[in-house]
Amino acid sequence: MLLCLGVACCMAACTDRPSHEAEMDKFVSDLMGRMTLEEKIGQLNLPTVGFDVTGPLMSTDVEQKIKNGQVGGVFNTFTPVAVRKLQEIAVTQTRLHIPLIFGYDVIHGHRTIYPIPLGLSATWDVELVERVAAAVADEASADGLHWTFSPMVDVARDPRWGRVSEGAGEDPYLGAEMAKAMVRGYEQGDLSKQNTLMSCIKHFALYGAAEAGRDYNTTDMSRLRMYNEYLPPYQAAVEAGASSVMTSFNEVDGVPATGNRWLLTDLLRRQWGFGGFVVTDYTAIMEMENHGVGSKAKVAELAVNAGVDMDMVSEYLLDELPALVKAGKVKEETVDAACRRILEAKYKLGLFTDPYRGLSEARAEAQIMSAEKLALSKEAALKSIVLLKNDRQTLPLDASKKIAFIGPLVRDQRNLIGNWSAAGNPQQAVSLWSALESKFGARKFTYAKGCNLTDDAALRSQLNRHGGDITPDSRTPQQLISEAVQAAQKADVVVAVLGEPFGMSGEAASRTSIDLPDSQKALLKALKATGKPVALVLMNGRPLTLQWEHDHLDAILETWYAGTRAGDAIADILFGDANPSGKITMTFPRSVGQIPIYYSHKNTGRPFSEQEKYTSKYLDESNEPLYPFGHGQSYTQFTYSAVQLSDTALAADGSVTATVTLTNSGARAGEEVAQLYIRDRVGSITRPVKELKGFQKVALQPGESRQVTFTITPELLKFYNADLRYAAEPGEFWVFIGGSSATENKAAFELGITN
Ligand code: NOJ
Repeated sequence: MLLCLGVACCMAACTDRPSHEAEMDKFVSDLMGRMTLEEKIGQLNLPTVGFDVTGPLMSTDVEQKIKNGQVGGVFNTFTPVAVRKLQEIAVTQTRLHIPLIFGYDVIHGHRTIYPIPLGLSATWDVELVERVAAAVADEASADGLHWTFSPMVDVARDPRWGRVSEGAGEDPYLGAEMAKAMVRGYEQGDLSKQNTLMSCIKHFALYGAAEAGRDYNTTDMSRLRMYNEYLPPYQAAVEAGASSVMTSFNEVDGVPATGNRWLLTDLLRRQWGFGGFVVTDYTAIMEMENHGVGSKAKVAELAVNAGVDMDMVSEYLLDELPALVKAGKVKEETVDAACRRILEAKYKLGLFTDPYRGLSEARAEAQIMSAEKLALSKEAALKSIVLLKNDRQTLPLDASKKIAFIGPLVRDQRNLIGNWSAAGNPQQAVSLWSALESKFGARKFTYAKGCNLTDDAALRSQLNRHGGDITPDSRTPQQLISEAVQAAQKADVVVAVLGEPFGMSGEAASRTSIDLPDSQKALLKALKATGKPVALVLMNGRPLTLQWEHDHLDAILETWYAGTRAGDAIADILFGDANPSGKITMTFPRSVGQIPIYYSHKNTGRPFSEQEKYTSKYLDESNEPLYPFGHGQSYTQFTYSAVQLSDTALAADGSVTATVTLTNSGARAGEEVAQLYIRDRVGSITRPVKELKGFQKVALQPGESRQVTFTITPELLKFYNADLRYAAEPGEFWVFIGGSSATENKAAFELGITN
């Protein structure tokens, strides 16, 4: 039954939901015409309800504030019951009956959990990522949510930063593709469909470039780097129709993003044409006091005048705007514009017609963790897993052999769903051990815990204080290792399942060492000493430094935090029922000292040379990464023919095609991500040694070949020059096509005069 809200005639008597822009304008204008300044300011307030505190404050008296008309939306609550309860207050007990927006950090699944975003990006499967986002929206909206604080599209090149787990890695092109796919999946181009979620692009902007990889730290970069390398995914997400944007905690050009008018108004709204609303990150307005740009009233003024529409948790707008408007420091039109954007979002979500958006227990029951979603979770997990190394065909395993599964993550459920796992219930996650039991029956393989996830008591207590559950084993570390060594000695092959406890990546989880924890390294060394082949299965949220593991172990399988069906997917890959096809989207360094390390670096005036002393290099480390961006092996082999160009000249209004023949020259069916990189040989500014400009995921049967063709137009060659003009410059370009950013398979063409 549709509820009449009594709002400005309730548009066509609540039966025929208007969709036209002009009708929306009229509806919102009518409503705003009846609102007091205080009620408009109330719409800009976003308190948190209940849990998931990610900052210094917790909202108070939320129900009372809703009744007072002082709340525009809430976050951190869901379920039909909880949402109905608060929404009912808003639509029945407030003067104007304006519904609330319900938001939540639905980052990689709501109840059904999919691989972490870094893992999803490793699928290089845009269509799959869009399907995942659509399924996430379907489930979360059935649980009462309207809005997700996703996608995080921050380009990230420093794996010390814990939040690399939440994004698509280091590359602007891939990041833009993933960002668009997620926005399309969540919003479906039509928020009036009740199974969609409003997306929120975050963190605007440059949050991934925090100095020294320390969360919330300063960022500082040239406009050229910003425009060419960091802004493209945000812009792409805006163009894909994202309805909201979240400000970042960091400063941009010395001004905190949350008070940065150039960023939020000139760039976002004027240059990019963003028409949705801007919400701050958690208490980000308040934090501008710590940044040192003013007092409480001043930072509220800065934020709203910069272009902030909604204040997450700090309530500075609620407290300060009435006086700021009275004093003429903030124009009433500015408050009106912010309020209008929020009301428009509510209108587009259909909340004025049905504030419950079709909520029902039956719908929740049917959608939450449905068989289709669980199947999709497994599909995504399978495709996100990356085979980093595989000597002597250690993998796939032969189930008739004696196999010892060793490590604290073999039977673990909690870590599989990673950080930001929303309403995911670890009890519903399939551990590797239980997947092995389902696949092969109980007690087929041996198990030993081998070590604690960490023996560092200080780290453990930090992690446990924030949701971790790391209990040291009652056995000593030495006893655990001895038991594991005994199990290994009796086996033909050892599978070590190790990684970062989930709290070691994510927000406020920066690290200066990105090795495996010491307890785990000690275990690996003991296992290696048995002389048995060792395959390492990793669960973690960032590139790790794995030089020792690479040099000494036989196989390494990167599984990230693969979600609810992680165990099933890992078991299928370990035993060859599925062939790994993921490719890493962040460079894996050899050592922390190489960071920031990314494939699309500049050549410098003194590029590396072995013989020359005075070149750009380290005395104690190679310049090369351990695993380059785009790397990932398969159980089969793929070979690439030389790159064939349709022409060696590209006219300003023309195109050339670049083609390779890709062959599955191994014995198993598999999928390969063919990657197109371009190098602009000479420019008015220096250009990266390679830039990703296309990719295709191709499935091939053993012995099968396929032509893979990319079309190159001058548009693809454009970049921002020193005047921030976006243009392609004539001259020579190299085109590379291969299986990773390390490919040297190339051809050259010349771009003619452009204008
Ligand atoms: C802080 C995080 O930076 C942001 O990503 C998240 O959406 C908010 N907290 C809300 O939980």
